[in-house]
This record gives sequence, structure tokens and C-alpha cells, in this order.
Amino acid sequence: MKKSCFLALLLFLFGLKASAQTSSAVIEKKIEVLLKKMTLKEKIGQMNQLSADDMETNFKVIQQGMAGSVLSITNPEIANKAQRLAVEQTRLGIPLIFGRDVIHGFKTIFPIPLGQAASFNPGLVEKAARVAAVEASETGIRWTFAPMIDIARDPRWGRIAESCGEDPYLTSIMGIAMVNGFQGKNLSDPSSIAGCAKHFAGYGAAEGGRDYNTTAITERQFRNVYLVPFEQVVKKANLATIMTAFNANDGIPSSGNEFLLKEVLRKEWNFRGFVVSDWASINEMVDHGFSSDNKEAAEKAINAGVDMEMVSGTYVEYAESLWKEKKIAIETINDAVRNILRIKYSLGLFENPYVKGNTKEVFYKEEHLKIAEKLAEESIVLLKNEGQILPLQKPKTIAVFGPLANAPHDQMGTWVFDGDKDHTVTPLFALKEKYGENITIIYEPILKYSRDQDSTGFDKARKIAKEADVVLLFLGEESILSGEAHSLSDLNFQGLQSKLLETLQKTKTPLVTIIMAGRPLTIEKEVTQSNAVLYAWHPGTMGGPAIINLLFGIVNPSGKLPITFPKNVGQIPMYYGHLKTGRPANGSELNLNNIPIEASQTSLGNKSYYLDSGNEPLFPFGFGLSYTNFEYREIALSKTILKKDDILEITLSLKNTGNYQGTEIVQLYARDLAASVALPIRELKAFQRIDLKAGEEKRVMFKLPISDLAFYGMDMKKKVEAGKFDLWIGSNSISGEKVSFEVK
Ligand code: NOJ
Repeated sequence: MKKSCFLALLLFLFGLKASAQTSSAVIEKKIEVLLKKMTLKEKIGQMNQLSADDMETNFKVIQQGMAGSVLSITNPEIANKAQRLAVEQTRLGIPLIFGRDVIHGFKTIFPIPLGQAASFNPGLVEKAARVAAVEASETGIRWTFAPMIDIARDPRWGRIAESCGEDPYLTSIMGIAMVNGFQGKNLSDPSSIAGCAKHFAGYGAAEGGRDYNTTAITERQFRNVYLVPFEQVVKKANLATIMTAFNANDGIPSSGNEFLLKEVLRKEWNFRGFVVSDWASINEMVDHGFSSDNKEAAEKAINAGVDMEMVSGTYVEYAESLWKEKKIAIETINDAVRNILRIKYSLGLFENPYVKGNTKEVFYKEEHLKIAEKLAEESIVLLKNEGQILPLQKPKTIAVFGPLANAPHDQMGTWVFDGDKDHTVTPLFALKEKYGENITIIYEPILKYSRDQDSTGFDKARKIAKEADVVLLFLGEESILSGEAHSLSDLNFQGLQSKLLETLQKTKTPLVTIIMAGRPLTIEKEVTQSNAVLYAWHPGTMGGPAIINLLFGIVNPSGKLPITFPKNVGQIPMYYGHLKTGRPANGSELNLNNIPIEASQTSLGNKSYYLDSGNEPLFPFGFGLSYTNFEYREIALSKTILKKDDILEITLSLKNTGNYQGTEIVQLYARDLAASVALPIRELKAFQRIDLKAGEEKRVMFKLPISDLAFYGMDMKKKVEAGKFDLWIGSNSISGEKVSFEVK
């Protein structure tokens, strides 16, 4: 019986694989048949993406067969009209693909991606991306420009909000989850949208955190850090498309980077989808000083392997003459068109070009809102809880202050084009709705928005706070202060927010600060002055109920930081997985306050650290508190000497020693102690979410393939090098008992 079941399963799996192979073979055949019929002009048309700004002109261009895609149409009727022109009025009837920035939700807005990463819950993140796909596809959008999987280590960079943080492993896991959610089980399902991993590559390493700025990433850093998530989504999530970045790395703009696009992406990773440029990043190669004019920019981008051009129109203008001048080969054009058609066929656009547009049935569905609420709950990080002031214990009067307590627009965060603020549930609304009958709630924003400089209301705030049992202070950033082109050089609270906090702290009423922001802010002083701090990122449509559930202990916080919080801007760049240096600090260094006057200079015993703020972050990567406590015990390794193809088993016992049920995110870090090149002091290799009732204890096991310790060493080949390794299992990137093993 069992045997026959197994056999049936094998046959089923074999059948699945075979049918996938057949369908991809069928698609390849169709592509070749169509390609043969296409004129050069029609091919170039497929490589052109229009923006929806001027649809009247677009309709004409589409009818002439000179567009393969339009970005940012969100009205199903307009989408169908444009599609009808492409399908019914062009010679070959090739459908358009409609793209849009659906970054963290379409109508139902989820936490910003940085917040989603703090959940360490890829299953839930995948569900959120699925909801986004279901809502967006109903308007005709079959392609999102997400996920952004740029490794981001500088909170000055506004786009850190859109990233999954600083770590290649966590970003890979989240990127795979998002792509799986967007693309669904099968791309041809009308509710699936093609994913687009961006920005290829290195965009997040902009010098000084200033958007679009130059980067200086070495090939080894690319391969060991910045490219890791891209390789993973290509290989493990069947990613449909990739977007080139704006930055020039080592003088080479990404849209002209043949090495990355051809050698790495196509040859090494065998990527079969298509590459789109970022908005006008092709003609911007002229501004970079990498091309003398738009024509040369088009030549360089086509030859580098950018298949589709986003909006700047240089392909349509120059590709034909470039071909006549033999500067680009017809095979290069053919390959680009093949890549684009492959995704159009896979999406089923030829069979199903139009959209029903039943938007009322899918937008903001109850089940979508539930997922948004759960993800917001899991993304919020408890940074401080002095004297277990949280969860709140039946307060009679609550004073609510701050510009983010009732900010339905800002709570949604950056990159929200389609979410409607009328659907946002703010913390103030949720508090009143859930507890308004039993608790006296007094609300005064005092500051109207995060940059507000008006202190007129401070006296009033003081009086109200004195009468209350607890103060809930909602601070942070307006959504427009993070995101594209919104970099900052000062990460302290804007406006008079810190002053307001200080004023309230002086009343001695217990103070809970809830921060909504698109990035880590430098909040050392404010954390000290608050009794408890919750970091909520920009939590999206359902952020309000999520925060209230956490404050009242309906849900226990479990989020962990996907990014290091520096104490001040001067410490940046600051990330946990840094190299050790030859003179690592050990905590016993002198600092500004204890250097003797007229001390003589010495070159002995010096260490690498900042005299004024040391090397410790305010909060390390992976950090986050719970209302309960977890004890890690009996960490044991299956072996201490291993071969390169072994799997190391690590077991431990995790006990909930507190009074609340809770979820711990157990993190496994490793370090290769000596290798052909120096490696990070710790690297996240795995994590697990473990749910425990109060007092409960569970055995936890990790299986770590030794091959996961491979890296690009001196010879630029990826492999495991023999030697000694340290390993930690703990609740953040600086905790955990160290155990060691050796690879022979
Ligand atoms: C520019 C941004 O860099 C990119 O991420 C986005 O997808 C495009 N604009 C399209 O809006």
C-alpha cells in the first residue's frame, strides 16, 4: 500500500516536471515562430516601455506596434483599451504587459518592506505579496517592480525603507517569499504578477547614503554580499524580470554593465526572464559621463543586455540606425525580444489579454486586512520595556500625543500610489474603538506633523499628561521623508518631537513612545527618556489595531531588527557582519572623557574605534524584546569535525521562562576564523520562529549544510575552505554562547 502511494507520488511529480518542461518547450517554439514574422521595427517596439502620463499619445504609439509595455495604468478600462489596440490593431497582435510599483501592497497596504523583514516570517510575507498580486492584477497590472532586494546598510539612504535591511541571507529569504507571493504557483494564473528584483546591482551602497550616488563595490563584495539575494531569487523563485540600477559602480553605470548582465546574470545564473532599465537610466548614462549622447547610451545598454527600456525612448529612436551601422547585432535584438516574449507567454497574456476589472470584489477584502494586521503585529519591534510597563495593565486614563497617532496617510509609508488613506486604521481610532468605553482617552497631537516647529501646545500636553495613568506618544517620520530621493544627513527626530518627549517625560507619568518611520532613526536620548519603546516602521493600513493589540498584550511582540540601529550618524556605516580589522576594539579603550590632558601620542596598543561614541550600536541587528523571557540551554553539535559535504546538526533547548506565551526568533550565526580572504565576524545562516507557552520548553534543531559556509575567496571561486569555525545560536547578532567546529 505504502509502496504504491510512493510510486503514485513519484509519477505525479515526474508528470509535473515533464509538463513544465513541455510547456516551456512549447513556449520556446512559439517564440521562434513569432520572432520569424517580426520586422526589426516590431522587435524594437517590444523593447520599449511607455509611461502612462500621456495615454492619448500612447494609444497611437501602441497602434503602430512601437510599445511592448506601459507602466502605471491602474484603470482597467484604460488597460483594456490599450490592450485592444495592441492585440486587435497591430499586425502581429502581441499583447502589452502592464507594470506598476506595487511595493508593499496595492490597495491593502502592508508594512514597508523593512518592517516586513523584521517579522522574520517568510510565510506571512509571501501571503502579503499574494494579496498585493490579487488586488493589482484585477486592474490589468501583471508585473510589479518589486521586490527591492538591495542590501542597505546606510539609514541615511531614503530607500532603506523599501529594502529588507542589511543582511544577504535575510534579504534572500524575504525576496524569495515576495517573488513567490507575487508570481503565485503559476505565472499564467490571471491573479499572478511577474516579479522584478531590483536594483541590479549595488544601488544600496550609495556613497554617503545619498540616493543615486556612486558606489565602489569590489567584485568579491558583489559576490559575497550584494548579489547574493539576486542569485537566490533567480535560482529559487523562478524570477521573471530584473531591473538595472541608477548607480555607477566603479565608474560603470548599471544599465551599461556587461559583466553583471551578461557574465553573471545570463551565463553564470542562466536567467531566462527579461531585464528592464530603471526609469531613464539609459539616457542618464550621458549625465554619468559614460556615453557621449543618447545614441551611444542606447548602444551600450543594448549590448550590455538591457532588454527593455523604461520610458526614455532611446531604443525606438536609435536601435535601427545602430543596427544599420553594425554597432548592434540582430542576434542581440532577437535575444532581448525572446526574453520579453517568454514572460508574456508565461503570463498567459496571448490567451488572456484583457482584465475583468471586478475591483470592488477584491480590494480591501476582510481576509486581506487580517493578513495586513498580522504582518504589522509581527513587524513591530519592542526596543525597551522598563519595569515591564507593557503590556498596559488596565489604565483608567490614557493620554495620546504626537503627530503619528492619527496620521492615516503617513502611516502607510513610502511607495504608496494606490492605497487609500480612508481605509487606514490609525492607532487612535483602534484605541477608541477597542477600549473607548472603559478607558478615558484624551488625544491632542500637539505637533501636527513630524517637522512641526510649533510648541504652543506644550503646556497643554504637560497638564493632560499629569492627569493620565500612561502617556502614549506617537513620533516618527512622515512617509515622504523616506523613499526614493529622500535621503537625510541628520537622523534625529525632525521638528520639535524630541522636545515634546522631554516635556512629557518630566511629568513622571509612565511614557510609552511608539515610533513610525521609514528607517532607523538615531534615538539614543529618546529611548533613555521613555519607559517603553515600540518601533513600528510605517505599518500600513492595519497598523493601528496591530499597535493597540501589542500595547495591551493581546499579541506579544516578536519582531527583530533587520538592520543595525546606530547611536549617531557618525557611526555609519554600521552593520553586524563587518570585517574584524587588525586592531579590533575590545571595550577597554579610552574615550573622550578619560584621555588625560596633554596625553602623549602612542602608536602602541591602539584600536579601531570612535573616541566619542565607541563601536557599539544603539541596538544590534536581530534585536527585539518580548513580554516574556527565553532561555537558551544545552546547545550541542552533532559533530565537531566535518567534511565539506556534511550537514551539521545543532540542537538546543529553548524555554519560555516568563509569564506570557511568546514567539522567539532563534538565530544562527557562523564565522570562518581564517580563510584565503578575511570574512565577517558573524554571518546569519539560519533562523527559526519558535512559539512557546509560558513555562514551556522545546528542543530546537538546525541542520546546517556545510556548503552554506561557501564564499568567494582569493581565487574568486565559490567554495568552502577547510579550517575552524565558530557558531552562535542566540536572540540577536551579538548574543549567544559560542560553540566551535572544524571543517577538514
Ligand atoms: C524609479 C525607481 O528607482 C524604481 O524602483 C521604480 O520601479 C521605477 N522608478 C518605476 O517607477
